[in-house]
Amino acid sequence: MSDRLLEVRDVTKTFPVAGKNTLRALDGISLDLARGETLGLVGESGCGKSTLARTLLMLERPDSGTVTFDGIDPFSLRNKDLLAFRRRVQMVFQDPYASLNSRMSAGDIIAEPWRTHKTLYKSRRDREMRVRGLLDLVGLRARDADRYPQEFSGGQRQRIGIARALALNPDVIVCDEPVSALDLSVQAQVLNLLNDLQQQLGISYIFISHDLSVVRHVADRVAVMYLGRIIENGPTEAVFDRPNHPYTAALMSAAPKLEAAQRGNRILLKGEVPSPLNPPSGCRFRTRCWRATDICATQAPPVAPDPQVSGHSAECHHPLLAEGAIPVTVSA
Ligand SMILES: Nc1ncnc2c1ncn2[C@@H]1O[C@H](COP(=O)(O)OP(=O)(O)O)[C@@H](O)[C@H]1O
Ligand code: SF4
Ligand SMILES: [Mg+2]
Repeated sequence: MSDRLLEVRDVTKTFPVAGKNTLRALDGISLDLARGETLGLVGESGCGKSTLARTLLMLERPDSGTVTFDGIDPFSLRNKDLLAFRRRVQMVFQDPYASLNSRMSAGDIIAEPWRTHKTLYKSRRDREMRVRGLLDLVGLRARDADRYPQEFSGGQRQRIGIARALALNPDVIVCDEPVSALDLSVQAQVLNLLNDLQQQLGISYIFISHDLSVVRHVADRVAVMYLGRIIENGPTEAVFDRPNHPYTAALMSAAPKLEAAQRGNRILLKGEVPSPLNPPSGCRFRTRCWRATDICATQAPPVAPDPQVSGHSAECHHPLLAEGAIPVTVSA
């Protein structure tokens, strides 16, 4: 068993849109995920987070690039083999109200994945035992199996969603904004549950969230996306405390729930995120970047490593951690 469970290299995904145009939702994405690790994925709406999630769930086939899962290219598999492989990556959705079928009992919802994956828990008794086990694992009671989604609170519903994701014993769970529909007090409970499950079961998470304080709390490493690319990634502490890319610094400075001391001066970004139909030349962040120079418009930015923290790097011509650069907390 290799420690590196998932390896994504230079993955591109386009969608055809009206008028013969193509939209580059993912434009050269590379990332690694180790067993038992949580990778936080942050970035503004439309930057490609859900498309990346769907690619990792093997629901979208990349146009180019490679995905290697436990040494295997899942997209080389066909039919039954691909289906069997899909078991290994599961999903927890944002909205625990919309994502559970209100006409099914909690027990049936949790057992539903076994209808597709028929080789798991073949006898009815096995399935009932396993549903009870899963309910217990997520902090619900055995008798909750017979209740319906509308009889549960938001936090309890998300626990049912998590139990359903666990039903196939996945290696990875992709959590797309899993707590943003919940009250703050309930958010903490669900995050603690996800953390306990990781400790017990050794699952890896890809944790997508726009809420930086949540990501800081749960992620071992963080990848920051902008217009279809990961523009900075590294250990969580490093990305939060010493951002190297101007966009990351701006995101961090705008996070309302972070301690003022960490936030530094607020950096106000000008303009809107450009359309992925027609991204800027050179560095795609240049239309909003206060450090942009001519080269940023003509050449794709190089990888700029953090001189002090290995595994932490950004894509930028004028990184914030370069020698002689203005300190990280730059005001607009
Ligand atoms: N099936 C699709 N067809 C066309 N465009 C799509 C499709 N899915 C996503 N997109 C576009 O790809 C970009 C990235 O979308 P998405 O991955 O949902 O971003 P995020 O989850 O970060 O908000 C957006 O511009 C979106 O409109
Ligand atoms: S490459 Fe240039 S435009 Fe892009 S983030 Fe760096 S300084 Fe800004
Ligand atoms: Mg999304």
